[in-house]
Amino acid sequence: MAKMAASVVETGEDAFRKIFKLYKRRSPPPDFNDVIDFSKCVTNDKIFPAKLDSAAVHDSDAAKVGLHPVQDWKAFTLQGYPGFIFITNPFSRGSQPFWVRQCLKTYPQKPNVCNLDMHMSPTDTQDIWTKSVPNLSCPSVGKREPRTLLERLRWVTLGYHYNWNSKTYSANHYTPFPSELHLLSSQIATACGFTGFNAEAGILNYYRSDSSLGIHVDESELDHSRPLLSFSFGQSAIFLLGGTHRQDPPTAMYMHSGDVMIMSGQSRLLYHAVPRIVPANQEVAALEPGQCSWEGGAVVEQVSEEDWTVCSRYIHSSRINMTVRQVLGQGQSFPEIPPLPGHIEEHQEDNTKRKRYSDSPYTEET
Ligand code: SIN
Repeated sequence: MAKMAASVVETGEDAFRKIFKLYKRRSPPPDFNDVIDFSKCVTNDKIFPAKLDSAAVHDSDAAKVGLHPVQDWKAFTLQGYPGFIFITNPFSRGSQPFWVRQCLKTYPQKPNVCNLDMHMSPTDTQDIWTKSVPNLSCPSVGKREPRTLLERLRWVTLGYHYNWNSKTYSANHYTPFPSELHLLSSQIATACGFTGFNAEAGILNYYRSDSSLGIHVDESELDHSRPLLSFSFGQSAIFLLGGTHRQDPPTAMYMHSGDVMIMSGQSRLLYHAVPRIVPANQEVAALEPGQCSWEGGAVVEQVSEEDWTVCSRYIHSSRINMTVRQVLGQGQSFPEIPPLPGHIEEHQEDNTKRKRYSDSPYTEET
């Protein structure tokens, strides 16, 4: 039986931080036995099947965005986390490559915003993909400093662009949200009981094997009654889901490529973090585009062999996570004066030790 990760051993002042550091530790490596692996489909006294509304999403609509019929999805909830839903890879064979390509080739393009824009000119960050491909697609020997723009990409924002300084969104910093990602998100949200979900903001995080994401709460959206959706591709991660206080010990779980997580209801505003990237299972190495016959109206397209060579090289050592959020409730608008930050979000981190707002969302947590 899977146990709740380390939660029974660590309580008290900032129990979350202790467990974060435990899973981040390289030497000696932590014991991963307590990390929940939903892909193993274990249900027990803490892990339950989630009830989805399979009638609300037509199989043909699911297929258009590369999803299996909802009735075939394996979805779970966790005791103590009402509103938290974990769907193990609902993507149909051959469709993950399309979403990976969107994350690497399409979404980093202007007018979207990325970390590189913080210290490079718009011309220099104009076409990250084309500028990176010649070097990225050549096999490199050994570990080296990232030299292509794609390898230096840490975050991209979509729709209402998150301002890392003020920790707010604003009406005047908006560019159209990608329609295919809107469609994917609304199918997932609808299946989870959230009809009318309006994907308005996206934050994409790009992780190298030594990256992590600090402890934080996503509370900048103005309507917290709408869910937060999270999609993972490439290498796996250990995800920590805590409580409303840092003293609440978190539960650790794996997020594998294709997995989707929904934080809603009482779980919408919980502390969470990614202390560690871990090697992916065999399925990621076997991912390949094609052999798909998407019907008319599909938004998922065939990925060319040339593009996939670059994407597969990237995800062989990296992880991509997309979070999709609805910022405003129905009829809601931004306040005229943006609210002061003053909230509890911490920063992401990795070994670059840079500040989130200047270049990287990853900052040091000790
Ligand atoms: C986030 O919390 O913003 C992203 C989490 C993840 O990378 O899984």
